[in-house]
Amino acid sequence: MIAIDVHLDADAAATMARDVRLGLCAYPKELAPKYFYDERGSRLFERITELDEYYPTRAEREILAARSAEILAVAGRPGTLVELGSGSASKTRHLLDAMRDGGALDTYVPVDISVEITERTAAELVDEYPGLAVRGLVCDFERDLERIPAQDPSRIVAFLGGTIGNLYPRPRQEFLERIAALLGPADHLLLGTDLIKETARLEAAYNDAAGVTAEFNKNVLAVLNSELGADFDLDAFEHVARYDAEAERMDIRLRSLADQLVRLDGLDLEVPFAAGEEMRTEISTKFTRERLESVYAGAGLELSGWFTDAAGDYALSLARPV
Ligand code: AVJ
Repeated sequence: MIAIDVHLDADAAATMARDVRLGLCAYPKELAPKYFYDERGSRLFERITELDEYYPTRAEREILAARSAEILAVAGRPGTLVELGSGSASKTRHLLDAMRDGGALDTYVPVDISVEITERTAAELVDEYPGLAVRGLVCDFERDLERIPAQDPSRIVAFLGGTIGNLYPRPRQEFLERIAALLGPADHLLLGTDLIKETARLEAAYNDAAGVTAEFNKNVLAVLNSELGADFDLDAFEHVARYDAEAERMDIRLRSLADQLVRLDGLDLEVPFAAGEEMRTEISTKFTRERLESVYAGAGLELSGWFTDAAGDYALSLARPV
């Protein structure tokens, strides 16, 4: 059984225009990482996940492959898996396999921004898991989290990939509070987070030798060119990724290589960049178990399970409402 509910923002273009205007008129300038992901950006991110230097995707897959059964046992053997940012659900199959093998698998709720990917994934999964009900939700989950249907006895809500690291502390706490409000007493959050490690390895993961991350970062300028009629010269900016040890996050920017004036026809706006000026395009926060425990506590959640890869590079944690 497949049912997919679509709630796309009719004003997405206007929202983006407003967002970009605010970001480019601010000092320092900043763009939101969600604008990386047009088709080319999504393909570039896929390539990042395959780079030698970029360990988080492999580490998360290792944890799911080795410990899904254990994770689900700690989570009370839920019958429903809700996944935020499900995409092609490639890592999710480890969880679904373990739910099926434990005899509990009933419903999968993929929540994603892409209709095409959600429909394709749903069709594949009902084939692969006979009897599975897929109740998909196509929306911007940061905006539409509350649309997730309240449901049966117990659920596990998975937010994988380390995307929570993109949020600043305040919106992160607000987001986790909203998840906490969604969880019943028997439900659990399963959250993927990258962990603090040597600066050299963190920085290498975002400064790969092949330059894929640089291309990914600059792609946001190509998105503004096509969506907002801008005339960014991608060669006039360079990729910068540094670890900010105090804020415990990667700080990813584009640095202007010259004094230049960029015009955005769609916003009727001209924006000056000084030579050397940096515009932030993403943060990627890194955690420790202790930090995450306090982040959870601040959102009315309690850490109830902690699973890392063998190298201790990445964690999946379970949390439940207090
Ligand atoms: C998709 C947000 C988890 O922060 O590591 C990878 C995005 N940016 N390389 C991350 C990203 C540059 C990634 N997340």
